[in-house]
Amino acid sequence: MKDDGMVLNNAGQVLCMTGNELGIIENGAVRVRDGRIAEVADHNLKPEPDEKEIDCQGCVVMPGFIDPHTHLVFMGWRAHEFEMRLSGKTYKEIAEAGGGILSSVRTTRQASEDELFQSGMERIKEMISWGTTTVEIKSGYGLDTETELKMLRAIKRISKNAPVTVVPTFLGAHSVPKGSARDMTEFRPRNSDRVPSPQVRKEAYLRLLIDEMIPRVAEEKLARFCDVFCENFIFNADDSRRILEAGKKYGLVPKIHADEIESSGGAEIAAEVGAVSAAHLLRPSDQGLKAMAQAGVVAELLPGTCFFLKEDAKSPVKKMRDYGVTMALATDFNPGSSTLVCQPMTVVLGCLVYGMTIIEALRGITVNAAKALRLENEIGTLEPGKWADIVGTDLPDYRHLAYRVCHNPARLVIRHGKAVFR
Ligand code: NIG
Ligand code: FE
Repeated sequence: MKDDGMVLNNAGQVLCMTGNELGIIENGAVRVRDGRIAEVADHNLKPEPDEKEIDCQGCVVMPGFIDPHTHLVFMGWRAHEFEMRLSGKTYKEIAEAGGGILSSVRTTRQASEDELFQSGMERIKEMISWGTTTVEIKSGYGLDTETELKMLRAIKRISKNAPVTVVPTFLGAHSVPKGSARDMTEFRPRNSDRVPSPQVRKEAYLRLLIDEMIPRVAEEKLARFCDVFCENFIFNADDSRRILEAGKKYGLVPKIHADEIESSGGAEIAAEVGAVSAAHLLRPSDQGLKAMAQAGVVAELLPGTCFFLKEDAKSPVKKMRDYGVTMALATDFNPGSSTLVCQPMTVVLGCLVYGMTIIEALRGITVNAAKALRLENEIGTLEPGKWADIVGTDLPDYRHLAYRVCHNPARLVIRHGKAVFR
């Protein structure tokens, strides 16, 4: 069925996001046909008889926001841990005491696929209402084959039912689970009750990831990317290389959480394995950043996480700018380290916490976020032929997106040519 088209007229600024800045067209208009952008003009367009005309009232029109890094499918919030952090405990201490990711693993294992789907849909709706039209979602609160697949199936159902583009990522390597079936049988010496050492447990889990989970995920075509939480005390650089190379053999493109808590060689691994993106990067080495620039790995900056965890680190932005690393911005939405759902707030924090320019931050949630998902030929800019994923705002000027804290700018959200939020 052919979609009827529309023209968006009287846009004070159309931010095409082409070139190296914002590609602004003052007093412009956009024509949409069959879900795609048909025309972008510097004057109002005459609607065809079957096209709707929308009056943008002199405000900013720009690409739909892209959130290239979230953990939005999970069961169970962790407000009690937030309270513990406020009274002085660190994220790492809470995790080491069995909280953190492993506490979400316990609750997510108990949830049904349907419960994960329903709660995910609610969170997605909230994101759409803030202008997001594409969202990446990771597994990683299962840490056993059954629950990882259950999460990815829930993500697939969300992708079929929610009016957004969902990009699924397998993050089985989010943490080492407590006592998996395997380490209890294969690795426990006969006639011994000794609990396996952390090293033995990790090796058992790596084998489960590589020999069983990755092949199953690929077989069911449940993910596009394979991610790993690379930190010296979780999956170190060598472990990360093994996991990401194994994913590549099954067609899963590598992504990585790198150098957040400690400098762990994650940026170097990202470049070495040809990852599409590396996230966090609060403590990357200079060499790692240079290698990323050379290999074209996109940095996914997560200033909401830095803010929410009160992370004590220098902003990586100046170095990235100097070395020519492409910067994207994401919410990292999850129950432990960032409860942020809205990309406009990521823009505010990118500027105020990380010292990005407004132009860098706006590119970070559009064209560069598309690159972090290898979708730059489809979305992220307003150009003829791309998907018509568009946010019509109430902002008189692009600067307001960074300047107005907690203001929701989305008046009209269009995805593939259809209004999905008004
Ligand atoms: O990106 N860094 C690893 N994973 C998440 C945290 C997940 C959690 O605490 O549940 C992150 O910050
Ligand atoms: Fe993350």
